[in-house]
Amino acid sequence: MKTALIIGASSGIGKELSKLLAEDGYKVIITGRRGNLLEEIKASKPENFVVKVNDVTDLNACETLFSDLQNEFKTIDLIVYSSGVGDPNYELVWEKELPTLQTNVISAVKIYGLAYNLFRKQGYGHLVGISSIASIRGNRHVPAYFASKAFQANYLESLWMKGKRSKAEIYVTDIQPGFVDTSLALGTTFWMASAEKAAKQIYAAIKSKKKKSYITKRWRLVAFVLKIVPSSLLFKFT
Ligand SMILES: NC(=O)c1ccc[n+]([C@@H]2O[C@H](COP(=O)([O-])OP(=O)(O)OC[C@H]3O[C@@H](n4cnc5c(N)ncnc54)[C@H](OP(=O)(O)O)[C@@H]3O)[C@@H](O)[C@H]2O)c1
Repeated sequence: MKTALIIGASSGIGKELSKLLAEDGYKVIITGRRGNLLEEIKASKPENFVVKVNDVTDLNACETLFSDLQNEFKTIDLIVYSSGVGDPNYELVWEKELPTLQTNVISAVKIYGLAYNLFRKQGYGHLVGISSIASIRGNRHVPAYFASKAFQANYLESLWMKGKRSKAEIYVTDIQPGFVDTSLALGTTFWMASAEKAAKQIYAAIKSKKKKSYITKRWRLVAFVLKIVPSSLLFKFT
């Protein structure tokens, strides 16, 4: 039985992906701060889920989590970092930017590093990070979130390069969703996919060991436009 660790599985994309993996026969270790939601997921397929309550901003607890999991499971095939936060911050209030930096940057690097080194030690593994279409350009309403996603995308590409050069068989995938209907998306907007649909496409990208995947697929078009549109035009529409 393959083992997957989903960091940030209590809701949204992480939750739906965890369910797909469990249906496919994985043992899925699900984490997040909201233990009650994780227990509800476990109740749907108790033999496939293992709950570990974890706050990724507690960096020592992340280290303990990984050493406990290595003792308990010996190997982990797939690790997905789906934890993320981000709020609009019109007045540039520091207290609003900080959690985004802690969760999406500091903790992401902590988990990516723990995962990569675990894979190096065991000789193989697949790391998946969820950045965003937001990684491509800036945004005046949600500056820390967009910048944190650019950071994640770059960091993941660096790890992908490392994996390619490694003697171990390490794959790294950067998932770049557009709008997905979760609490993080703050309301409805165009081309919004359900979390179920997003998870299905993410799982397909994982199975094909893609370097990068836009979710849903049509967001590739938006990515193309964002990469070429001049800032003088972009700021009028965002
Ligand atoms: N929804 C979108 O439109 C969209 C678009 C592009 C990218 N993304 C990215 O997709 C990822 C998943 O987000 P989502 O849309 O599925 O939103 P979500 O439903 O709010 O899920 C976020 C997950 O992050 C976890 N999390 C947040 N802070 C955490 C912490 N300190 N410690 C541990 N876990 C923490 C939450 O668990 P707890 O609260 O239980 O801790 C939850 O499971 C995020 O990285 C997000 O940036 C989303």
